[in-house]
Amino acid sequence: MQVLVTGGAGFIGANFVQQTVRERPDVRVTVLDALTYAGDRSSLDAVADRVELVEGSITDAPLVDRLVGESDLVVHFAAESHNDNSLNDPSPFVQTNLVGTFTLLEAVRKHGVRFHHISTDEVYGDLPLDTPERFTPETPYNPSSPYSSTKAGSDLLVRAWVRSFGVQATISNCSNNYGPYQHIEKFIPRQVTNLIDGVRPRLYGAGLNVRDWIHVEDHNSAVWSIIEKGQVGETYLIGADGEASNLDVVRTLLEIFGRDADDFDHVTDRAGHDLRYAIDASRLRTELGWAPRYTDFREGLAATVDWYREHEAWWRGAKALTEAKYARSGQ
Ligand code: NAD
Ligand code: TYD
Repeated sequence: MQVLVTGGAGFIGANFVQQTVRERPDVRVTVLDALTYAGDRSSLDAVADRVELVEGSITDAPLVDRLVGESDLVVHFAAESHNDNSLNDPSPFVQTNLVGTFTLLEAVRKHGVRFHHISTDEVYGDLPLDTPERFTPETPYNPSSPYSSTKAGSDLLVRAWVRSFGVQATISNCSNNYGPYQHIEKFIPRQVTNLIDGVRPRLYGAGLNVRDWIHVEDHNSAVWSIIEKGQVGETYLIGADGEASNLDVVRTLLEIFGRDADDFDHVTDRAGHDLRYAIDASRLRTELGWAPRYTDFREGLAATVDWYREHEAWWRGAKALTEAKYARSGQ
């Protein structure tokens, strides 16, 4: 099987490619990635001899048409993925997340190629802090930020191409991922690399916002379950019952680093900051028989800390620039 992975040099995509090459010798992988600030060729070093990396944009219609035409399956990870960046400059979010997904859909429609669209639970907006309510596939779309609204728009494009043109597509909406190769602009690797540098972690606002954490390998095993066993045209929610407040995450990291529990700073809150995300993944578990492997969040975090300690060369180059960007917005 020839698989085209868009965004395969990014965090989740690179983990997906590595896992796929390791576990599925019958699959040949081509990666299409624009190598933006978030993409890193070296994230694929471990599998470089088994993967073709094409540097290019998913908005480049002739390139996309050629690569899709050579594929049996497209797994679409490529996106502008960071909420804070989308507040500073929404334009690349509209281009990549909307126009890029449209470009891919036109190509899979023309060539009759199976498509899996990777999306986020942020399309549903947020939940109150103090209820047991969780997102389900029936939750209405209500995105808050330029990031989540362009992801929501891309999901709706996929649904329309399924219904109107019979495109063979599935969609997954996953909660917050953590693990190796995540860009250090994101919450967990930012705090981990701060702590490695002896800098205090930075919590937006009061730190009470809740995210539903899942290890990236569990996200990717769920994606393969959906590709192999999911029903075309359907949406699946991916989550591993990993709810934690940002304050809890920082406290756990401080404990892993042997630092005082109050050794962090509160900084300017994010505009429009979503309060809480929580996923009901029962459909994935019951219909597709999927289960996560990383069920102990502290253990998964400790392994992730070790990875960043052992791979300083992978992230060090981006640290000063990332922190300078945050400093400009008081974060
Ligand atoms: P990331 O920012 O780490 O990686 C994105 C990759 O896409 C990068 O390699 C980048 O170079 C590439 N890219 C950007 N624009 C491109 C373009 N125009 N053409 C080709 N490639 C382009 O993102 P991530 O965290 O790995 O997220 C991957 C996908 O998973 C995204 O669709 C995101 O919305 C979704 N998602 C992420 C999370 C999370 O917690 N990170 C959770 C749920 C869903
Ligand atoms: P982030 O990793 O940006 O993911 P998302 O916005 O997609 O949930 O942020 C996760 C949470 O952590 C979110 O509530 C914002 C918060 N946060 C901080 O408190 N401090 C930080 O330095 C960053 C980057 C995020």
